[in-house]
Amino acid sequence: MNPKKIKYEKNELLHVPVLEEEILKYAPPFTEKILDCTLGGGGHSHALLTRFDQARLLATDRDPFALESAQMKLGKFLPRLDLQHARFSSLKEILSSKQWRFDYIIADIGVSSFQLDQSERGFSFTQDGPLDMRMDPNSNGSTAQDWVNNANPAELTEIFRKYGEERFAPKIAHEIVKKRKILKFHSTVQFANFVASLIPRKFQKKGFHPATLVFQALRIAVNDELLELKALLNTTVDYLKNEGRLALISFHSLEDRMIKHKFQEWENPCTCPPNFPLCICGLTPIGKRVFTRPISPSLEEIKKNPRSRSAKLRIFQRI
Ligand SMILES: C[S@@+](CC[C@H](N)C(=O)[O-])C[C@H]1O[C@@H](n2cnc3c(N)ncnc32)[C@H](O)[C@@H]1O
Repeated sequence: MNPKKIKYEKNELLHVPVLEEEILKYAPPFTEKILDCTLGGGGHSHALLTRFDQARLLATDRDPFALESAQMKLGKFLPRLDLQHARFSSLKEILSSKQWRFDYIIADIGVSSFQLDQSERGFSFTQDGPLDMRMDPNSNGSTAQDWVNNANPAELTEIFRKYGEERFAPKIAHEIVKKRKILKFHSTVQFANFVASLIPRKFQKKGFHPATLVFQALRIAVNDELLELKALLNTTVDYLKNEGRLALISFHSLEDRMIKHKFQEWENPCTCPPNFPLCICGLTPIGKRVFTRPISPSLEEIKKNPRSRSAKLRIFQRI
């Protein structure tokens, strides 16, 4: 895809950062090195570079358009900023070559508003575009169109059920396979209308497109989001300084659960049976959760930015 086809407003891709106040509030007080693994529209990076005016920031994203746009938005910080194209599963290569340790590592996992709103990216069910959904459109990974036109019914059912918690998953999968024998799916609106026609009216919620869960599920599959998150968790913790913090914002219950369990495991890795008087496994905590419960956006924030409503922030601190 040609970057020029993407519409810029005031030369920047627009995305309202979620939980920005909290991301600033829980940053370690003497932060010098920051890693933002989801640069997106550059909102969190901008806020952190402003707050910590001597800090250096490495920012990565798998979306090449995000990096291009952030160069404009963050232009005045360029001497303190390093932008790199990377997905979570390729972060290790970058981090091991840099040999930095960070005071603060953040990731705001999900899609940005500009990805959702640009019809060319294929995430939108209201503005027609190619059924793509790859966060990196230059990658050679499968698109949503490849999935719906080729996956077997069991695979489609599993995706819609597991990643979308869609109650009509088997029916939708079956009807997709039947329909594609006559007509291939190629556009977002064509596919969204087809899915909507399969959801009984009484189960359709006001203000919620009936294809929302199926679109979410396909997006997670296309971008391999859960494996990516696993790689993010396994990599970043090794690059925190002592007392350094890892702050993760997620928007999906499966992702929040993965983060919660990993943080619990890091805090209490001992595998000895509870009735053992002494620990013999030798596994010791590598840090502690800053809060046991996740932080959610305030009602005021949700009112201003409804896309923030399902965000959950969890923070872990190394010892
Ligand atoms: C919600 S946006 C981040 C917004 C950003 N915090 C801001 O304030 O503007 C999420 C970003 O994460 C990126 N992303 C999602 N999964 C990724 C992955 N596995 N590797 C790298 N970037 C990823 C997306 O491309 C998107 O730009």
